[in-house]
Amino acid sequence: MARVQPRYVCQECGAAHRKWTGRCDSCGAWNALVEEMPSAPVATGVRSPGKGHRLALEGLEGPAKAPERRLSGISELDRVLGGGLVPASAVLVAGDPGIGKSTLLLQACAALANRGFGALYVSGEEATDQLRMRASRTGLSNAGVKLATATSIADIVATIEASSAATVPAMVVIDSIQTMHVDGLESAPGTVSQVRGAAQVLIALAKKRGIAVVMVGHVTKEGQIAGPRVLEHMVDTVLYFEGERGHQFRILRAVKNRFGPTDEIGVFEMSDRGLAEVKNPSAMFLGRSGSGSESPVSGAAVFAGIEGTRPVLVEIQALVAPSTLAAPRRAVVGWDTARLAMVIAVLDARCGLTLSGHDVYLSVAGGLRVSEPAADLAVAAALVSAFTDTPAPDATLFFGEVGLSGEVRPVGSRDARLREAAKLGFTAAIVPPETSGRPKGRGVQGLRTLELRALNELLPLFGLDVRRRAPRRGPPGAQRRPTEETGG
Ligand code: TYD
Ligand code: MG
Repeated sequence: MARVQPRYVCQECGAAHRKWTGRCDSCGAWNALVEEMPSAPVATGVRSPGKGHRLALEGLEGPAKAPERRLSGISELDRVLGGGLVPASAVLVAGDPGIGKSTLLLQACAALANRGFGALYVSGEEATDQLRMRASRTGLSNAGVKLATATSIADIVATIEASSAATVPAMVVIDSIQTMHVDGLESAPGTVSQVRGAAQVLIALAKKRGIAVVMVGHVTKEGQIAGPRVLEHMVDTVLYFEGERGHQFRILRAVKNRFGPTDEIGVFEMSDRGLAEVKNPSAMFLGRSGSGSESPVSGAAVFAGIEGTRPVLVEIQALVAPSTLAAPRRAVVGWDTARLAMVIAVLDARCGLTLSGHDVYLSVAGGLRVSEPAADLAVAAALVSAFTDTPAPDATLFFGEVGLSGEVRPVGSRDARLREAAKLGFTAAIVPPETSGRPKGRGVQGLRTLELRALNELLPLFGLDVRRRAPRRGPPGAQRRPTEETGG
């Protein structure tokens, strides 16, 4: 009998190789190849697809049935899922170890059980005692969640298959998929073949029995779901649970959702009694500055962002300090480094504000990650404020995209941003001009808006002259004034 040849599977991308190498040829990851035994002889030389049935073809028109939903009652979670759990679906909840995935899902199970649905929590990482301790700490001991500690997929399937249609759980949590193993695969739990094999069986079970299967996946240092991205396209929904260690805020973010929108976020606050929903994230991310609270400081500007469908106000903080380095530092937390470089370049070339001799640090307060270009104007305001050591105008927020020629461009969801700001007590907004064709003068009550056409119109707010218009002729920098005058 022919000997089964081992293969070496990259734990990052799933590519299989015949020989071990230090670096995966297909994704370039180092030290990621692990020896695995193929489960079945690989079919070779398949020429004919075999005999099939003719498919019934349909058109795009006709009624579309929205999936039935099961609300857990944790509204931050339900919203991120697109309106609740969908029966017969597979969800992956990924995040760093220790971020709070187990706590979140135990709470979700308890909430669902409280609403009369069956919920089963299978842990391959913790003993029942530990789970009970967590449940009593979070006050969930009486919730009626069924617990099991198991790492064998066969046992889990047998347990669920044994339940009748009336007792089959609505939600099954597998914590974590990396600890599970499928019999018949020789590789260790957590390897690509095991994770893929276990997920395949669980997804098939979910579809067959109408269960919402929620799999926990730990993320590796590189930010990928260990064992690996293969899971992301197998499941219906991928949620990331994230947050800065040291911050008590946790954000649940949908990055893929076959049953709802992505980009939606749910915000939670950690406590010793578990995760609490944060219904008004703006108040949280604003932190100290808020509207007109304590004495204003320089180097901060409030940005009115949109996360998913919700407006969220966050404070953007900047520090500008003279540098002795040949290449001054640009350090960013919560925003895009390339975007910061662009805003700095536009301030230099279009506004005559040169930061080239300065280290620049930029941070989004509260541990949120902002990805919208609409934050450009707030970033610029924070930078100018830090550079001139002048606080931004009181109770004022900023949003707008900045173009390379220094123009301030309109962004979407203008009214939603303004309404949220007014609700939180802001009195002024520095914004882009209205999109042409929209009725003029429509504002939000209690909020003055100042429309900027070009970035250099920002400077007078911080006691600087409007230095330059966008250059019409001459090389960039020809009319630049010395930066000493700007008082940095
Ligand atoms: P845990 O849910 O075990 O994280 P994960 O499953 O992602 O690895 O949480 C990690 C630790 O933090 C655990 O000791 C419990 C603690 N914790 C709280 O005390 N309060 C909370 O609100 C959360 C989310 C966690
Ligand atoms: Mg855990």
